[in-house]
Amino acid sequence: MRNDLFLFGLFLTLMRLGFYHAADFKFTNVICKSYNESWFLIHNCRLKAVNRHKTSYNFNGTILYPGNHIIINIQLFKKENGYKPWLYKITFDLCRFLKKAYNPVAILVFKLFKDYSNFNHPCPFVGRQLINDLHLSYDALPLPMPTGEFLIEIDCFFDLKILLSTKLYFQIREDFTRS
Ligand SMILES: *[C@@H]1O[C@H](CO)[C@@H](O)[C@H](O)[C@H]1NC(C)=O
Ligand SMILES: *[C@@H]1O[C@H](CO)[C@@H](O)[C@H](O)[C@H]1NC(C)=O
Repeated sequence: MRNDLFLFGLFLTLMRLGFYHAADFKFTNVICKSYNESWFLIHNCRLKAVNRHKTSYNFNGTILYPGNHIIINIQLFKKENGYKPWLYKITFDLCRFLKKAYNPVAILVFKLFKDYSNFNHPCPFVGRQLINDLHLSYDALPLPMPTGEFLIEIDCFFDLKILLSTKLYFQIREDFTRS
């Protein structure tokens, strides 16, 4: 088991050093939806062009009643004749997670958002929710990914009812300028 983990780690490292190192990550579209606008208001959910290769994601919303029981569902999709689920889906309890980070995949995802948002505090979640110029580079991704078109869907359930859904589309291409 330990050997397998070691080999897997070595494989990931080699992937990073090798072919896929010269890749470009770009958000291509974003769609946010509130399922109850008297609880969650979306003011802004938009991509901004940084340069030809880069876009950043901005979000501004208001939670009108405190959320104390929040479940997050994250699913990655890859486009192949339509978007098909890719890798696995994660579900975690956000309030529990913020007390003690327990889900290793959620930790990786949370790390990507943390520095660009005001989400890094314990529950309840209420008031202004911001993501400010979130931009990612291929090298910052928690796992090496193939080239292609992807979608990450993040669904937030408050008191077990879906309240907010975010679909972030992105593209990974070989970056010939860097290879
Ligand atoms: C929307 O949220 C408010 C505040 O929590 C709640 O009172 C209301 O019942 C919700 N509406 C629906 C349709 O779930
Ligand atoms: C968020 O949206 C609200 C309402 O439109 C606005 O008053 C506020 O300035 C916005 N905040 C940011 C940081 O964009």
